[in-house]
Amino acid sequence: MVMGVMNIEEGASLPAKNTFQVFMCSIIAAVGGLMFGYDIGISGGVTSMDTFLIKFFHHVYEKKHRVHENNYCKFDDQLLQLFTSSLYLAGIFASLAASYLSRRFGRKPIIMSASAFFLCGAILNFFAQELGMLIGGRILLGCGIGFGNQTVPLFISEIAPARIRGGLNLMFQFLITIGILAASYVNFLTSTVKDGWRYSLGGAAVPALILLIGSFFIHETPASLIERGKDEEGKRVLRKIRGLEDIELEFNEIKRATEISNKVKSPFKELFTKSENRPPLVCGTLLQFFQQFTGINVVMFYAPVLFQTMGSGNNASLISTVVTNGVNAVATIIAVVMVDRLGRRFFLVEGATQMTATQISIGALLLKHLHLIGPITSRSVPLIVLILICIYVSGFAWSWGPLGWLVPSEIYPLEVRNAGYFCAVAMNMVCTFVIGQFFLSALCRFRSGLFFFFAVMNVIMGLFVIFFLPETKGVPIEDMAEQRWKKHWHWRKYFKQN
Ligand code: BGC
Repeated sequence: MVMGVMNIEEGASLPAKNTFQVFMCSIIAAVGGLMFGYDIGISGGVTSMDTFLIKFFHHVYEKKHRVHENNYCKFDDQLLQLFTSSLYLAGIFASLAASYLSRRFGRKPIIMSASAFFLCGAILNFFAQELGMLIGGRILLGCGIGFGNQTVPLFISEIAPARIRGGLNLMFQFLITIGILAASYVNFLTSTVKDGWRYSLGGAAVPALILLIGSFFIHETPASLIERGKDEEGKRVLRKIRGLEDIELEFNEIKRATEISNKVKSPFKELFTKSENRPPLVCGTLLQFFQQFTGINVVMFYAPVLFQTMGSGNNASLISTVVTNGVNAVATIIAVVMVDRLGRRFFLVEGATQMTATQISIGALLLKHLHLIGPITSRSVPLIVLILICIYVSGFAWSWGPLGWLVPSEIYPLEVRNAGYFCAVAMNMVCTFVIGQFFLSALCRFRSGLFFFFAVMNVIMGLFVIFFLPETKGVPIEDMAEQRWKKHWHWRKYFKQN
């Protein structure tokens, strides 16, 4: 698969109007982010609902209500965690499949299939009678997420004119946060309804349907058409989305990019064996690793459980979750507006610092106030933790959240861009799986120490950015090696000096 349009970035003179078609296609595709976000936001609330636990995880329900149960271990259950994390396991394989299939058949059918998978998963979960159906539904949702996350950001990059590509790209992350917010609100509404969890899980059908219907109206990207030899159709779509008759210049750029890229028969081999690809491979993949080890999904998946652990009632904990997710969405807008002005490194380092400080504070508060047995007696502590979580989430939302996706999409040379991007997506899924699967057990074993662990990770990632990640703001993608990697104190040794 090739991201041909990326190549024209430096051709700032390439003519293009900001057409309705481009906005429509990008917004529809970004609904893939809404699906992803809805899912992230829904699982935590559902796993804290009693009716859900009674039906599928009765032993967890009993444990949760035992007065003398260890606070930190109330929700520790491998099967319960598998409910959350099975989706990401499926997502890893699905995104690998999507990276091949979208090269062969185009981006549009993959986006359509993503929504179809997601729809089926939502329906299965709505009707779930036993754990098998529930996990089966999660696997289908995972296929939808894998197909969507691998294809949507690339689709937007290919369809957007270079000038507004960054902003349109971050729409994906913005819709992720809207999805999370919507999900937590749905959980809040359904938590008092009989079998409310069914509506929460079935609600995933809504973003899936929007994407499914919308995807009939999007255009296949010119790069994909031209890559598959459909030059005339590619030109026709280019004319439409650029709002111009004369698109020869851009067409030739895409053609040239496609030809270079098509010479590389095995992008993965090229990616892993050529030393010049090592710097972006290490940085892009580690960025996603670090994104997950900021600890964000501990908050996204388990915030309601965490608030309940501190002794808040079911309702209060769901409201708290809506609040943190609202902060997440609003703070993302700051990134959308400022990231091309202040740069990537600034936000990444600032975000890591903010998250370190808040993790340490939360850890210290829990250490002091959350004893093994019984709720927190101080009324102010849960509120302070809520405020700290909001500060933490905003730090993530304007830094590692959007940039974890944006940076890997702009640091690879064209020939290996897709393979490289897949590594970032896969790293995201693997780490999300690990956090989803083991957090509750880790909380049980390490208690508040876990927050200190994440604080240390945040320090490491901040230092990594300072020493190893060059600033990519404003650098034309195809010039990245010349302008950045080859001049970097560490990475330059991977380039043959000539
Ligand atoms: C991450 C997700 C996270 C979300 C929170 C995304 O960029 O990949 O794991 O839950 O941001 O907003």
